[in-house]
Amino acid sequence: MRQSPLVVVAHRLPIDDSVAPDGACEWRRSPGGLVSALHPLLRDTPATWVGWAGGTGPAPHLPDVDGVRMHSVPLTGDELRDHYEGFANATLWPLYHDAVEHPEYHRRWWEAYQRVNQRFAEAAAEVAEPGGLVWVQDYHLQLVPGLLRELRPDLRIGFFLHVPFPPPELFMQLPRRAELLRGMLGADLVGFQRAQAAHNFAQLAAKVLQLPATDRRIAVGDRVVRIGAFPVSIDTAEMSALAARPEVVDRADRLRQDLGGPEHVILSVDRMDYTKGIEQRLKAYRELLASGDVKVRDTVLIQVAVPSRERVARYQILRDRVEHQVGRINGEFGRVGEPAIHYLTQPFDRAELAALYRIADVMAVTPLRDGMNLVAKEYVAARVDDTGALLLSEFAGAAAELPQAYLVNPHDLEGLKQELLRALRATPEDVAARMRAMRDHLRHNDIHAWAGSYLSALEESGSLLGRRVTAG
Ligand code: ADP
Ligand code: G6P
Repeated sequence: MRQSPLVVVAHRLPIDDSVAPDGACEWRRSPGGLVSALHPLLRDTPATWVGWAGGTGPAPHLPDVDGVRMHSVPLTGDELRDHYEGFANATLWPLYHDAVEHPEYHRRWWEAYQRVNQRFAEAAAEVAEPGGLVWVQDYHLQLVPGLLRELRPDLRIGFFLHVPFPPPELFMQLPRRAELLRGMLGADLVGFQRAQAAHNFAQLAAKVLQLPATDRRIAVGDRVVRIGAFPVSIDTAEMSALAARPEVVDRADRLRQDLGGPEHVILSVDRMDYTKGIEQRLKAYRELLASGDVKVRDTVLIQVAVPSRERVARYQILRDRVEHQVGRINGEFGRVGEPAIHYLTQPFDRAELAALYRIADVMAVTPLRDGMNLVAKEYVAARVDDTGALLLSEFAGAAAELPQAYLVNPHDLEGLKQELLRALRATPEDVAARMRAMRDHLRHNDIHAWAGSYLSALEESGSLLGRRVTAG
């Protein structure tokens, strides 16, 4: 087995095994923040990505993709149901997102969670070079750092949580809270999107495990685990360059013509997820159409909502409700050839997304809770001429970094309507001043800065141990 100095461990591999008729694989760039964040980073580094290739049964052998080795971990149908759809996406996901949907607890799901985490830890132990660095990602794999440390104490281990980490009042609901915390504390560095999350984690380590903890460090036996906020970002330069490409500019012009040359285009791009606030946003839009503040004649709403986690009941219910709502609004307010909402559920390539960002006068990103929200950052990066208004939920991690956006509380329907109107009616000067400031921030705080700051903190956290263990 070939070994690598850098190993990323994430639930999913970032490739699409169905893309290439000639058998070659391509980066999948699946709709999801984790893959979007890590793709630009790994392209430039010799690394192995450990993850699930989709499907059940034996793990397929996959070719390298853009120089990155793909190491697939097999899952059975039961594990997929109980680990991914169950504990990860029906227990942890809703709980970590403010319990906006009720988290479910089942003992069988926890058993599968442990088993799958063990398998991922064993796979990482196999492919990491002696003294190498293993970077474990997200809520599906919270036990991996601890399990991996037992197998390979020579490794430097990082863990990064892409989603919010909840306040103690919520986390304390988890029947297996102590084990989950101990698992994460197997890492040398535990990274979060926001400082508040690191604070929550430190409080819980003290409360549940009685460990000495500050918002920067937690003492675990003879080890010191560093914790901190590392807000994830995007490849800003890449998105800006893509949006400025002549073919993308032409495509955007054509899209605007196809829409009938409206005065305003509002765009939303989400995975179909109940955390994204799609229903609330559509309701606000419906009321603005009903009151006549917005008219189908001159304003177009494009809602892209790519289906996600489709076997999980809540996601099926959400999709049905959204589609019912869209149908109703179009029936009530659309005109022949002029739907009130253009509703699209297809995955798009990066160029098409960039063209959509280019035509959006207002980008409405209004999740009820979101770890970061990379769509908001991609939109800003794509607005190369400093035009365009970003309507952004206060409850997205991105709001902490982009305070110049038109900020909203998506639970406050009246506030949401007013701020959307404000963004639609803003003067070009106001819009440009805000956009310039946000673009400036993202130029300096891009994905490379994120990886650089995380990895250098991981190096430092190693030296805090005061000892180097060599592989035996
Ligand atoms: P989440 O991680 O919850 O899915 P983010 O906004 O952080 O939310 O990340 C979503 C990522 O998925 C972004 O990079 C976005 O460009 C991509 N994406 C969203 N919808 C689509 C789509 N329809 N086609 C292709 N990519 C998409
Ligand atoms: C979020 C999570 C990721 C996940 C992505 C897509 O970004 O933080 O871990 O991969 O959503 O969800 P999916 O269930 O399709 O992997």
